Amino acid sequence: MPEKVQAKFTRIIGTGSYLPEKIVTNDDLAKIVETSHDWIVERSGICQRHIANEHETSSMMATEAAKKAIEAAGIKAEDIDLILIGTTTPDMVLPTTSTLVQHNLGIYGVPAFDFAAACAGFIYGLNIADQFIKTGTYKTILLVGVETMSSVLDWTDRSTCVLFGDGAGAVILQASDTPGIISTHIHADGRYKDVLYVPTGLPNRAKPGLLPYVHMEGKEVFKFAVKVLGDVVDEILAANNMDCADIDWLIPHQANLRIITATAKKLGLSMEKVILTVQDHGNTSAASIALALDRGVRDGRIKPGQTLLLEAVGGSFVWGASLIRI
Ligand code: ACO
Repeated sequence: MPEKVQAKFTRIIGTGSYLPEKIVTNDDLAKIVETSHDWIVERSGICQRHIANEHETSSMMATEAAKKAIEAAGIKAEDIDLILIGTTTPDMVLPTTSTLVQHNLGIYGVPAFDFAAACAGFIYGLNIADQFIKTGTYKTILLVGVETMSSVLDWTDRSTCVLFGDGAGAVILQASDTPGIISTHIHADGRYKDVLYVPTGLPNRAKPGLLPYVHMEGKEVFKFAVKVLGDVVDEILAANNMDCADIDWLIPHQANLRIITATAKKLGLSMEKVILTVQDHGNTSAASIALALDRGVRDGRIKPGQTLLLEAVGGSFVWGASLIRI
């Protein structure tokens, strides 16, 4: 157990990501379901997505993203004292994906756990990490959002299979005297359980007659997403006495360009201040914000000292936002 040191802030000190090699374009999908590149782009903004092969499991992708984040942070894997993995598509029920990642990194003994918060997984993970660091329980945390959404898609259902992709995004978070995570706000409302769901998990408990794939009432999800994302960005800015002029970059969950545009408009932010990957990745659920963050950091748009607003909503429903000084 590391020595307890109270920390003022939790800082992201390194980012990394992994995307499967195989790219599936909209035209590729038009060969297997009745759809078109133009329909998918117009309704979602998605042009392509990465799809995992049999070796690119959630634990494998999470490990590769983690290695890059560790390298970017300039630490050794042994410096990590907690592993957090946000995923709704683990390799299997047991062992947990986080312990598989721990094994791959060879850092035995450090605590590791998975948590499921769908597309809001990365925001929930920032909140969890922030608690552990601020209380002085842990000093250096690996947080990964990872999904193999292709494993829960019905490839004959055009209303869902065109929207998702696979990948992993990772960050190393560390105790610091300077900001850091400014605040993170999370919410959930289980009344919406029938609007977006995947009725699988323990094989004997699957709902009879329901296929173990994503089922979604797209319009309901859309309306709910626009409303709660607008509310949560208002909430987090008000809680910190900030407004859109204080935000250098909006890094939204990358589900749908129209939802992202609606949130940016509500904030009064130009789309030039939004990091967008939805066109290239599709909706990678818990991985999406971390993938976008890593892209923005590595291509030099996100610079030290800037303020980022992250927001996400996902099935169940769960949602949240985080303000971060990078
Ligand atoms: N290609 C062509 N036509 C399609 C496709 C497709 N891939 N999918 C549906 N259609 C058809 C429908 O069958 C329907 O045809 P009809 O009018 O003959 O009945 C027509 O297109 C319109 O369908 P809608 O579902 O009404 O289309 P809509 O404009 O609502 O767009 C979409 C659908 C893109 C799913 C939208 O509702 C949406 O983005 N919702 C949010 C969903 C989301 O982001 N989910 C991600 C998971 S949760 C999260 O991350 C927030």
